[in-house]
Amino acid sequence: MNFSKNKLNRGFANLQGNYLFAEIARRLDSYRESHPDHKLIRLGIGDVTRPLAPSVIAAMHRAVDEMAGARTFHGYGPERGYEFLREAIVRAEYETRGVSMSPDEIFVSDGSKCDVANFQELFSSSCRVALGDPVYPVYLDSNVMANRSGKLQNNGHYERVAYLPFTAENSFAPPPPSEKVDLIYLCSPNNPTGTALDRETLSEYVAYAHRNHALILFDSAYSAYIRDPKYPGSIYEIPGAREVAVEFKSFSKTAGFTGMRCAFTVVPRELGEIHDRWFRRCCTKFNGVSYVVQRAAEAACSETGRTEIQRDIAYYMGNAAIIAFGLRKSGYEFYGGEHAPYLWWRLPDGVNSFDFFDRLLTCCEIVGTPGSGFGPRGEGYFRLTAFGDRADTEEAMRRIAERL
Ligand code: MLT
Repeated sequence: MNFSKNKLNRGFANLQGNYLFAEIARRLDSYRESHPDHKLIRLGIGDVTRPLAPSVIAAMHRAVDEMAGARTFHGYGPERGYEFLREAIVRAEYETRGVSMSPDEIFVSDGSKCDVANFQELFSSSCRVALGDPVYPVYLDSNVMANRSGKLQNNGHYERVAYLPFTAENSFAPPPPSEKVDLIYLCSPNNPTGTALDRETLSEYVAYAHRNHALILFDSAYSAYIRDPKYPGSIYEIPGAREVAVEFKSFSKTAGFTGMRCAFTVVPRELGEIHDRWFRRCCTKFNGVSYVVQRAAEAACSETGRTEIQRDIAYYMGNAAIIAFGLRKSGYEFYGGEHAPYLWWRLPDGVNSFDFFDRLLTCCEIVGTPGSGFGPRGEGYFRLTAFGDRADTEEAMRRIAERL
């Protein structure tokens, strides 16, 4: 490379290895190359497998026809997303929860991963960040890239990050940080542990944020999987959250949009300059989600769409129950899978999660995700997803019972 190395963003040099799911894909490709005829069962990355709901497909057909006519064609859309979608989101996601929200507080995007990674751009590199261990790697990596983390230490933690332990010992509900932080990433239902934070715990975080002038970045991409109202599906169900929290929600895991790309971020007006600056950022750096996909997302919010989608969610949760039953029957300990499409499998003592990844791949031809890929406290755990095909999930549990 001719470009001078010391002019590169130093943050990237502090990253730890490859992005987790890229690393899994690399190992998988190499296994496939040497075993071309073998059928692998993929319970690794949380990617959906059910086809889109009929009302979503019908809405897309209609929208495509509109794009074919000179008078109904759509070019660039509004910066925050079309009003028809933002209004549909308010009705489906917030009115149903008794939460008041204005369509102007919603910013439609092409994915929560991008939004959650990009949001930190609004803040100075001196901000102190708190996030889980284990954690969805995007929260951490995006802050490392932004030079906010400091160096990686021998214990696998970055020197300037405050870690919230999501462990079995605290029932995966750590208290707010004991020190003062500025930004707090929370994910509920949680990826990777598959557990959810209850109202009381979230209220403690909201109170902490008020006391410390902190901002909560609440990733709620899996809220559609919650089965018990004691776990809020939106941070705004907690009084006082509008002044201290941004919320990320997605159609990916809710309506099977991982290949379609549509999500939204909620930035309440009470957040003042943060709201205005996010709008400014979106205007400069983003040209919106396609009209066809926004019409599809609108259909997913309709009453018919929501009923159809509930069937797919029930299907995935049926898979979660099959995995839970299989693990229990084989005498394994695990968490999650009740209000989330992930199960957090506690490996027998002393088993390293990347070694176990290789063992599960070679013995059972099943792909999962090693817990340590989510942080040092994920060591000794292994994540399985319920997003697979039903027959594959059943076959996976048979293989685990017979071959492991
Ligand atoms: C996961 O497997 O953790 C998710 O699929 C990642 C994502 O949603 O980006």
